[in-house]
Amino acid sequence: MITVSAINTDFVADIGDVNVASLNDETFSGIYQAWLQYGVLRIRNQQVDEDGLQRFSARFGPLEEAPFGRMPEAERKKIKNRYVTQLSNIIVDGKPIGGLGNSEASWHSDMTYVANPPPASILLSLEIPRQGGETYFADQSAALSALPASLRKRAETLTIKHNAAHTSIGKLRPGFDAFEDPREAPGAAHPIIRQHEETGRPALYLGRREWAYIPGLPLDESESLLDELWSYAALPENVWQQQWQVNDIIIWDNRRVLHRRDAFDQSERRLMKRCQVLSKAAEPA
Ligand code: SIN
Repeated sequence: MITVSAINTDFVADIGDVNVASLNDETFSGIYQAWLQYGVLRIRNQQVDEDGLQRFSARFGPLEEAPFGRMPEAERKKIKNRYVTQLSNIIVDGKPIGGLGNSEASWHSDMTYVANPPPASILLSLEIPRQGGETYFADQSAALSALPASLRKRAETLTIKHNAAHTSIGKLRPGFDAFEDPREAPGAAHPIIRQHEETGRPALYLGRREWAYIPGLPLDESESLLDELWSYAALPENVWQQQWQVNDIIIWDNRRVLHRRDAFDQSERRLMKRCQVLSKAAEPA
């Protein structure tokens, strides 16, 4: 039997007494239910290789190919493993072995710029810096509850267009042209208040602040409304900080939480493996 220990009241829990490399269906079902309830789960001391991580992640649903922007298919095929990606600042033979480097990543939820964004993201830590590189999560059900009634009412009828062209560290993805005006950003639009498909619970769904735009509004109104909404997105009481240990696994629900990451010193090494789960609506028929 797994143990589920809440870290915050109903957002973030530690799962104990489990080895993700050898799970039966009943044990996985307990993990899945806890993930829906809490939005963020941490499982410590998991010595799992890339195949094991991929197998565990695939229990949440078919895996999403990593976001390679508009990289041509022929180039994508050369990438060794298309479902487990690396986040790292480590350079080997002059080339980074993973994404994001040592930079700060701003608040976001994953790939909101596609029509059917991934529900689950799974991160495994293999090497961590002595300082920095912490990951933070912000509960967006709690953020929604914190909105003043008039702001919530306004948000209820509006969408946000989510920018596909830049990464969470502000870098232009391959195949996209630079632009200044958020109205020109390519990407999918989603309602600002999102009903969770599995729990029915509503949450604020802001994606990322940079280059976001609220269709139908003049740019200055869109900017000020987005700023107002974002001022409730990461109130300190709704934020949890993950201080990594090697072999931690964190699974988060992008429909429920935002995440961000601190920068760290480039002289330190950080290596994480990551999987993303395809939305049921995005699965091929
Ligand atoms: C991210 O997924 O945006 C970064 C997470 C991390 O490196 O901790």
